[in-house]
Amino acid sequence: MKQIQWFPGHMAKTKAEISADIKMVDIVIELLDARIPISSSNPLIASLIGNKKRLILLNKSDLASKEETDKWIEYFNSEKIPAMAVNSTKNNLYTKQIYKKITDICEDKIARNLRKGIKNTTIRAMVVGIPNVGKSTLINSVSNKAATKTGNKPGVTKSKQWIRLNKNIELLDTPGILWHRFENETVARNLAFIGSIKDDIMDISDLAYHLIVLLQNSYQGSLSARYDVNEEKPALDLLNDIAIKRGCLLKGGLPNVELASKLILDDFRKQKFGNFTLERVNDIDK
Ligand code: G4P
Repeated sequence: MKQIQWFPGHMAKTKAEISADIKMVDIVIELLDARIPISSSNPLIASLIGNKKRLILLNKSDLASKEETDKWIEYFNSEKIPAMAVNSTKNNLYTKQIYKKITDICEDKIARNLRKGIKNTTIRAMVVGIPNVGKSTLINSVSNKAATKTGNKPGVTKSKQWIRLNKNIELLDTPGILWHRFENETVARNLAFIGSIKDDIMDISDLAYHLIVLLQNSYQGSLSARYDVNEEKPALDLLNDIAIKRGCLLKGGLPNVELASKLILDDFRKQKFGNFTLERVNDIDK
């Protein structure tokens, strides 16, 4: 997994670069992780996009709850932001829908040009999103390219290249890499749950404890089904029980909480509990 260390200087530089790129395009495609649409967004995105057109793609929807993803799409549409769910690893599956959505959103430019006698309008688009949200995978998928260079170095200026997607749409070949939200612990934990930030900057047992609480509250039955434990117990006791059930033990037979924590997080990321949406539309108010 790629990681970037963000410092205020990086952020300022990145902001300036992305703003410059946004000036060149008609539409910004913002990638969010369908499992955590709030925590995977960047707080400054709306101001960065300004009055350009915007399309939200809820990526990795194959890992999220379909019902919740549908609610998110409804929510964004009610906010007048076009949104759709995608799975970028499914090469080409969503390409036509994405092209159509881009064309629909930019129809005013096409109509304006037609009135001026210009028949072939080129719509320019770029992809933005936090690290690991699937930007390169999406670009490869919609452009049929074997490999897209990832511009994972903030501050490195390169000459801009455009990929022609069809006769009307061009896509900037390097995505805009946004920095993570880090405004509170819940956001940081959500990012860590899905593996978007490294575990070593978090307390692994604390992370597993909160994941257990989250599963107990929102996805009852998933822990007992996987580990054969009594879910009614407090989360800390459950962590110990899971350690014992799974043989994560220290010398002397005491539960090895750290090892059990790793196991739970690993199981979660490998979809062993099924598909999950960790942030629901109602969480916006919180
Ligand atoms: P980025 O450019 O935004 O940093 O993300 P990138 O495309 O490199 O994708 C990050 C990881 O997410 C990749 O996994 C990629 O396969 C996976 N991914 C992207 N889109 C989707 C999707 O719609 N569904 C699923 N299930 N996975 C998706 P990886 O190669 O295993 O990398 P890593 O997890 O080891 O970083």
